[in-house]
Amino acid sequence: MKVKVSRKAHFNAAHRLFRSDWSFEKNEDIFGKCNNPNFHGHNYELVVSVTGEIDQETGFVVDMKVLKDLIRDEVEEVLDHKNLNIEVPEFEKLNPTAENIAVVIWNKLRPHIDASKELEVVLFETPRNFVTYSG
Ligand code: NI
Repeated sequence: MKVKVSRKAHFNAAHRLFRSDWSFEKNEDIFGKCNNPNFHGHNYELVVSVTGEIDQETGFVVDMKVLKDLIRDEVEEVLDHKNLNIEVPEFEKLNPTAENIAVVIWNKLRPHIDASKELEVVLFETPRNFVTYSG
């Protein structure tokens, strides 16, 4: 019997989407307002889900306190109030799109989640736009 357990989190971050090997016009075409050279912010909402068997002793799939602390240490401390392009090494050469941010978050969390359990990351960049990555 597998159960999916989810924890919500939140962070604010700034970014710019562009490719330095493209002209400003092409970047503007593809990335629109997200190509603003002065950066801009988003209020990111994150849902981290762990799916697995219920531990017969504790009744937990995962200890929510442990999951909460893990998200704080691995995601919030690293991304909250940061300029993703400048301050987060993973995005030095990687466009900080919602897709890529979700993959980076998943990669940060995966080593800390028991291998027998599935991990899913849903990242909302706006209330209407969100991406899902589960490895
Ligand atoms: Ni943006």
